[in-house]
Amino acid sequence: MGFEGRTTRAAVMYGVNEPLIVEEIEIAEPGPGEVMVKLAASSVCHSDLHALDGGWPPQVPIVLGHEGAGTIEAVGPGVTRHAVGDPVSLSWTPGCERCRFCLVGRPNLCERMMATTGSNVMVDGTTRLRKGGQEIYTYMGTGSFSGYTVVPETGAIPIPAGSHLDVAAVVGCAVTTGFGAATKTARIAVGDTAVVIGLGGVGLSVIQGCVAQSAGMVIAVDVHEDKLATAKHFGATHVVNARETDVSAAVAELTGGRGADVAFEAIGLKATIEQTIGVLGPRGTAVLVGMPPSGVTFEADPTLVAMMELSIVGSNYGSANPPVDFPRILGLAQLGRLDLASLITRRIALEDINEAFEDMKRGEGIRTVVSH
Ligand code: APR
Ligand code: ZN
Repeated sequence: MGFEGRTTRAAVMYGVNEPLIVEEIEIAEPGPGEVMVKLAASSVCHSDLHALDGGWPPQVPIVLGHEGAGTIEAVGPGVTRHAVGDPVSLSWTPGCERCRFCLVGRPNLCERMMATTGSNVMVDGTTRLRKGGQEIYTYMGTGSFSGYTVVPETGAIPIPAGSHLDVAAVVGCAVTTGFGAATKTARIAVGDTAVVIGLGGVGLSVIQGCVAQSAGMVIAVDVHEDKLATAKHFGATHVVNARETDVSAAVAELTGGRGADVAFEAIGLKATIEQTIGVLGPRGTAVLVGMPPSGVTFEADPTLVAMMELSIVGSNYGSANPPVDFPRILGLAQLGRLDLASLITRRIALEDINEAFEDMKRGEGIRTVVSH
């Protein structure tokens, strides 16, 4: 490990709500148990916007981006699982492979990861990026808005040769989070009535997960008409524009008063979290997928929860085990069982990264992919 003169072009955040600066920064060689990845594609997720808009203020300077895919550029001492040139998709939950969560296939809850990746530093607490002597952090342990990044070896997930790397980037967060919320966290049963609130890259992937599990009615909710149309493309049976219609009343009407078996919140707003609980029928489950800004809380009526035997569950990264789930999801896409390509609505150069955030703030498009 150490800085040996290698540089990379990266989009660096210096302050909340300030445009990212695309510039040349120094990158260290991978240390023990680390790899350097040459990014081919990286997509923009709302969790990047949460950092940029101050919802989750990170340490700065920091390289944002956590949905990325590329190839192994270099391996650090002791790394045997990766070889230079292998295609990988980045995971933001690089497991330690030793804690009780990793040991049961749940690195999304890894104890080590929570302390290191969660603080945007490497496992040893230091950083691999710098400029002019100032250290630069790596967002969510991935920092994919960069030509190259150094990540823990378990944060680079081998994917099938021939995978489209732009699609593999989106699998690195949105698809795994949404598809996993439906298939792994909620384990939708055949015929279940599902409501999905918020139809970004995450929510639309929830819809594909519900359809893959043979859900019955899939009711998609958003405030943008084009998102509702896209939800139908992905298999939603009904759509509700929350700007025009009361969501609880609409779900009650569509289900003949029964309510939903499962409702997903894929935005991260107090009001819509409370909506997911409000649309449930008896024994219904609300699945909280969206991550609100720090400090947000929600209210639920405990009498209703008890009387109706409701469940409120969280879903982190779709309860995923990335080394198993990334190749599985990409395999489904290769078989034509999942449409991941339609999630990509714009492609831009790294230089134009700030435009992608403006699109997201306006609710335009699904995923913008930066091609490196
Ligand atoms: N009611 C319904 N839909 C809404 C509302 C609302 N009140 N407000 C916003 N939306 C819709 C937007 O129109 C948009 O289609 O929610 C969607 C959010 O999509 P994105 O911004 O693309 O977010 P995404 O990247 O899918 O992430 C969603 O998951 O991982 C977390 O941190 C992430 O909290 C974020 C969430
Ligand atoms: Zn994300």
